[in-house]
Amino acid sequence: IWDVTGDMNKEETMEHLKEAAALLQDGSIVAFPTETVYGLGADARNTAAVESVFAAKGRPSDNPLIVHVANRAQLDGFTEPVNELSSRLMDTFWPGPLTLILPLKQKSLSEKVSAGLGTVGVRMPDHPVALELIAAADCPIAAPSANRSGRPSPTTASHVREDLMGRIAGIVDGGPTGVGVESTVVEAHDDGTVTILRPGGITAEQLAEVAAEVRLDPGLTVDPVKTDASSPAPRSPGMKYTHYAPKGELRVVQGAPDAVAAYVNGALSAAAARGERTAVLAFSEHLHLYRADAVYSLGSLERLAEAAHRLYAALRSCDEIGASVIYAEACPRDGLGDAIMNRLLKAAGHQIIHVAE
Ligand code: TXA
Ligand code: MG
Repeated sequence: IWDVTGDMNKEETMEHLKEAAALLQDGSIVAFPTETVYGLGADARNTAAVESVFAAKGRPSDNPLIVHVANRAQLDGFTEPVNELSSRLMDTFWPGPLTLILPLKQKSLSEKVSAGLGTVGVRMPDHPVALELIAAADCPIAAPSANRSGRPSPTTASHVREDLMGRIAGIVDGGPTGVGVESTVVEAHDDGTVTILRPGGITAEQLAEVAAEVRLDPGLTVDPVKTDASSPAPRSPGMKYTHYAPKGELRVVQGAPDAVAAYVNGALSAAAARGERTAVLAFSEHLHLYRADAVYSLGSLERLAEAAHRLYAALRSCDEIGASVIYAEACPRDGLGDAIMNRLLKAAGHQIIHVAE
């Protein structure tokens, strides 16, 4: 583990990053911080390295990886020329939590990266450590979130250690990540419209300032557990897996705060009577309403960025205390609320309870 939480200009920091970059060039896999979550990086051109990322995570090989770049010039090495809207989105949101699905240049990257799709997801992370590391490695870096598949994504180096210690060459520790949920994955069409394949750090409202129209992939709103063959499949392969899940049974509850708390407290006392350990994820305005073994704050409903920042750590805390019954408050779906609800519902296997007033 290399500690680079101090000043970026310190000689020691640069030495650490050079060491980590040399390992990447050598085909080893290294975890590093981005502004969203920690990534598990590999040279995207090296099939053996990319395969070890899938192996370390226990990730299904039909789920493609995002490629990270430090500058726009790197794109020429592995993408075909991009359309005008893609280029404007990069101008506006890079570096930042936006992943664009772009046409892949044949035989440029390992086929394992894109799972044979003919397209590649690319982003430029807004984190000085990530940018330095990618520049020092001097190659496109394929990096999924640095968690074991199915676990909440890591927002600290110790989350990465919990999941991947012994399976990877090293961890660059840049402190806790800022945004806390993953990047927004989009497809920018030639007609100036955008489809969101995965909600994330860049909101639909922000995209609408640049694109003529913003649509949500219809596959996203479908419950993957209950789908039949006629339902649309999510276009982002990762969206079809239950994910981010704590070990306990999580349910999301929606409704007026007092009604939600009354419902949840009833369920929690029944669970406690059965000897279960209980936990609640709630907004700071409502924390006092709940009676559980642990009540984790998602911050204020007025500032959903706080909930995004705290969500995955809260889910991991539920595991740490051995909670077997967990309830989470729903939030409005505008702004970052869309990404938060997407992750909560996935973590809950789409179990949502609507409480009448
Ligand atoms: O914020 C993030 O995006 C983090 C950090 C590390 O950058 N990375 C991340 O990667 O979340 P990962 O691999 O956990 O998620 C990648 C998502 C998956 O849902 C995958 O299916 C989708 O992007 N994806 C990747 N390439 C794609 C492609 N060519 N077409 C459609 N979806 C793609
Ligand atoms: Mg992931």
